[in-house]
Parts: sequence; structure tokens; C-alpha cells
Amino acid sequence: CTQQELIRESWRRVSGSPVQHGVVLFSRLFDLDPDLLPLFQYNCKQFASPQECLAAPEFLDHVRKVMLVIDAAVSHLEDLPCLEEYLCNLGKKHQAVGVKLESFSTVGESLLYMLEKCLGAAFSPDVQEAWIKLYSAVVKAMQRGWEV
Ligand code: HEM
Repeated sequence: CTQQELIRESWRRVSGSPVQHGVVLFSRLFDLDPDLLPLFQYNCKQFASPQECLAAPEFLDHVRKVMLVIDAAVSHLEDLPCLEEYLCNLGKKHQAVGVKLESFSTVGESLLYMLEKCLGAAFSPDVQEAWIKLYSAVVKAMQRGWEV
């Protein structure tokens, strides 16, 4: 299998229920870094707990949006540069809401965690390597939006 095939094959198992898997990703993210919780505010209201956040419709919309971006990357494996401008802008928006670049490493760890939970034994070292490569490319493009 090529890395692209491994990505497509594994994503097929996740993308059927994007919100469910996205919630696994973000639950892990809040476990690893609870300080990210206050960054999610809708109508200036902070969530009292990760549980409350993970159940809020506005937050679940964000989960959906994240999964759609990954889906777009998987659909454009052969032409990731065409997403460059979109991802650069997305990076800008995240800097504006107070996300630190380092937090994207924790998001990456949480993504791998979610994939492993979903794929079980099918989450081989080759699959993991292919995902690390794709996620790094997405983060690299988003990083261009960061003004230092
Ligand atoms: C928008 C936070 C990671 C994709 C937002 C917003 C916040 C936010 C506060 C604006 C409110 C909203 O639309 O819900 C965060 C935090 C993250 C994170 C704290 C992790 C540390 C990601 C990742 C992706 C992503 C990894 C995709 C790869 C999006 C998209 C939007 C968005 C597509 C909508 C942008 C628009 O309105 O044009 N994010 N986000 N986010 N986020 Fe994230």
C-alpha cells in the first residue's frame, strides 16, 4: 500500500461518523491540555467543564469543521498546495482566537489517539507514519498564518 492508500483506507473508517470520532479527539485534547477549554467561548460564555463543552451544539459544530478540514486534506492528497491559502487563513483565525502554535502538537497527539481507538489493530506503524506526515503538512500550512 502507498501512504496515500493507507490514509484513504483508514479515513473511510473514521469519516462515516465524524462528530463521534471528533469528540474522542477533543476529549483527549482536553485531558492532555485542560487550558485549551477557555479558548472555546460562544456568546462570551465560558464552559464550566470539558463535559459541558463537548455537549454544546456550537462546539460540536467546531468538531464538525475540524473533521471537514481533515476530510478536505484526505481528498486532496495529490494536490495539498491547493489548500495552502485556505489553511494559512485558518491559521490566522486561530492565532486571533488565542491558540498557540505549540497546541497543534497536542492536537496531533489527540488525532493519533482517536485513530488508534477507531482502527484498533489496523492502526499499524505505517498508517501512523502516513498520518503524521499528512497532519504535519496541514499544520505547516496553518503556521504560515502565524505572525510572530
Ligand atoms: C474556528 C478554536 C483546532 C478548524 C475556531 C474557533 C475557535 C477555534 C474558538 C471560532 C469559533 C468556531 O468556529 O467554533 C480552536 C482550538 C483548537 C482548534 C482551541 C485547538 C487547539 C482546529 C483544527 C482545525 C480547526 C486542528 C482543522 C484542522 C476550524 C475551522 C474553523 C475554526 C474550519 C472555522 C473558521 C471560519 O469561521 O472560517 N476554532 N480550533 N480548528 N476552527 Fe478551530
